[in-house]
Amino acid sequence: MERERETLLLKAGSEGIEQAARLLGSGGVVAFPTETVYGLGADALSATAIARVFEAKGRPADNPLIVHLANAEELDRYGVADRRALRIAENLMPGPLTLVLSARPPVPAIARAGLPTVALRIPDHPVALELIARSGPLVAPSANLSGRPSPTIAEHVMRDLSGRIDAVLDGGSCRVGIESTVLDLSGDVPAILRPGGVTPEEIADLIGLLPVPVGNGDRNRPSAPGMKYRHYAPNILLEQVVIHDGIQGEGVSRLKGHLKGGEPALFLLGPDLPREIARLIEAEEAGPLREDSISREFRRGETEGFGRIILVYRSGTLTDALLNRIEKALG
Ligand code: TXA
Ligand code: MG
Repeated sequence: MERERETLLLKAGSEGIEQAARLLGSGGVVAFPTETVYGLGADALSATAIARVFEAKGRPADNPLIVHLANAEELDRYGVADRRALRIAENLMPGPLTLVLSARPPVPAIARAGLPTVALRIPDHPVALELIARSGPLVAPSANLSGRPSPTIAEHVMRDLSGRIDAVLDGGSCRVGIESTVLDLSGDVPAILRPGGVTPEEIADLIGLLPVPVGNGDRNRPSAPGMKYRHYAPNILLEQVVIHDGIQGEGVSRLKGHLKGGEPALFLLGPDLPREIARLIEAEEAGPLREDSISREFRRGETEGFGRIILVYRSGTLTDALLNRIEKALG
């Protein structure tokens, strides 16, 4: 364990960004906003700075980090960007998308967890882009303690990492709220290692080939190493009630069971719930079950004194990215 240090909370104006860049330039670790979630940044070309990111998060050393760049011209300096990569970059970057490419030498092995590939992303956020333009490429995992829900406001970063990192650059709340799509282009067959805001269809439109989804059980290809860990998990009980059309009675009785007793519950509700179900929960404390709010609602459940979070949704109504995070959080 490193010594406790004071964590500065910096406003994301030009002064704050300059101070953050200075800290990063001297090997510090600084959290900053992106359009998806807050990232925990460090100089992507410094093995010692990167080691501090792993330590601050309690992140397993076999889980590689994403290198964040300020523009698409830099992609080919850090990874081998072929025509597919360049075409995707031209159309979808900056944006909530990460490309896994064969690595070129500049990025130290520790950032890649020793893999021959490197993950590259250009965040679509003015503060992130200005910071990277000043400090150079930054590794940035989500700025939470390992296993916790990703932070979408500066306060969530502070809650997890205060005393463990040098500063948080406060740029307000993150628009997308769910982490980037991770697309592996290092082999012949493009593969989605982590579903996110950019869909396989959007990618297919650009390269004429639908990327295959890669699950954890797939032996032929390693998925994103991070996907094997329990993730996004709130530190209170998490349960789900899935409503299957045609057999709603079952959903109703399960829901009634949850309503009967136990710890105070926060309900997160998916779209288009049947009236009967919606009526049952009417009087309960509830929030939306959506990509842009799931992390925030998980953390609200913890801090507002609930003992349980109960997800209620109709099968077939949630995006792959959201279902993926729910599956990880249920463990
Ligand atoms: O939206 C995002 O991607 C956010 C913001 C901060 O940019 N970052 C983020 O980083 O979610 P992190 O570290 O929490 O998740 C990165 C994921 C992990 O599942 C990791 O295993 C995978 O990307 N990854 C990184 N490098 C990889 C590589 N070379 N090959 C395969 N997967 C990789
Ligand atoms: Mg993460």
